[in-house]
Amino acid sequence: MPEKTLILGQTLAFDGAPDSARHDSHGGVLIHGGMIAATGGGPELRAAHPDATVVDCGDALLSAGFVDAHAHYPQTAMIASWGKRLIDWLNTYTFPEEMRFADPAYAAEIAARYLDLTADHGTTTICSFATIHPASVEALMAQAQARGQRICTGKTCMDRNAPEGLRDTARSAYDDSRALLERWHGVDRLSYVITPRFSPTSTPEQLEAMGALWSEYPDCLMQTHLSEQTDEIAWVTSLYPQARDYLDTYEAHGLLGARGLYGHAIHLEPRERDRLREVGAAVVHCPTSNTFIGSGLFDMAGLRAAGQRVGLATDTGGGSSFSMLRTMAAAYEIGQLRGTPLHASELWWLATQGSAEALHLGDRIGTLAPGMEADIVAVDLASTPAIAQRAARAEDLWEALFPTIMMGDDRAIRAVWIGGRQVKGDA
Ligand code: GUN
Ligand code: ZN
Repeated sequence: MPEKTLILGQTLAFDGAPDSARHDSHGGVLIHGGMIAATGGGPELRAAHPDATVVDCGDALLSAGFVDAHAHYPQTAMIASWGKRLIDWLNTYTFPEEMRFADPAYAAEIAARYLDLTADHGTTTICSFATIHPASVEALMAQAQARGQRICTGKTCMDRNAPEGLRDTARSAYDDSRALLERWHGVDRLSYVITPRFSPTSTPEQLEAMGALWSEYPDCLMQTHLSEQTDEIAWVTSLYPQARDYLDTYEAHGLLGARGLYGHAIHLEPRERDRLREVGAAVVHCPTSNTFIGSGLFDMAGLRAAGQRVGLATDTGGGSSFSMLRTMAAAYEIGQLRGTPLHASELWWLATQGSAEALHLGDRIGTLAPGMEADIVAVDLASTPAIAQRAARAEDLWEALFPTIMMGDDRAIRAVWIGGRQVKGDA
């Protein structure tokens, strides 16, 4: 019988919304067989489960692991590349790096490096783009499988406006995506995501083929990009003169649905906002990317107030950090620039349960509750002298947490469990 582990610390969990937070300053989480078996008061759990191995995290905050709803793991090695905006950035830095993933050994090296870096930052689930190379999907799936990690990824499809060596065709994109989907989707904790990069790098024929694939496998997620920069939108208008707007280029080809994930979604028309909400699709906010590439200010408050499903993401390496703490801080700063600052509870919810729900995984990950998978972080709320001296004055949990959101990094992540297995911190 697998061993039971009881983790003790402060606990923070959500029941479906940012204002549903439950905090226990002397809480505990019981892990058994890779799942959360019980949550509650630490002393009570200890008395009820004397056979459990105890990991006492003191006053560190136990939370569900972070969920990054949009990233590009192949861009790990070119993160923080200077001075370009979206289209030039793609052509100058991104496409040459993605070309290297034709080599399966390089793909395996970066996949391992990426999962090491993200786990070190407390991220336990990621929805990532791969490259056009099937081996780039194989590499991330195999690495995640070996680690018992929940990952969503798919082959990035592009059949135009990308360099030679980084283009597929409508037919090969369909065939390769389908073969990868059949091989990996639903295996262990792995999910295949149908992944047309964005309308400018696909012909209408390729978008049609991706839409057809999605209609054959409707339980799959579909991820792409939408309305990130104004130059990009103008380009889409010239490439798709019949389309009513950017979203319509997807909608017209069967690529708008509840399981759709639309990265960025900054410069939306009223019709686009209405349609995304009506179909129950998710938009994904990528704040460090939006400031780093100079894209614009996402309307979190307006979209959420209208009932839009929203996830939070790094967008590595357009985003400038692997850290969901830094990502929460950037979301806060963008909210400030719009005059609508997000509360610490909203930020933490977005980075955990909100993103899990955007990925339709809210029944498995994203909060601490019995029956959930045991992806857990222990966060040190005094990880540096600067953070510690501010947190020492805090009068409630949110005031204690906010300095770590704004100033914390991987040093704040004291311990991490993925599927019940401790991957960071002293066991
Ligand atoms: N739009 C199309 N591809 C990309 C990408 O790789 N990163 C970002 N930020 N936007 C994109
Ligand atoms: Zn992206």
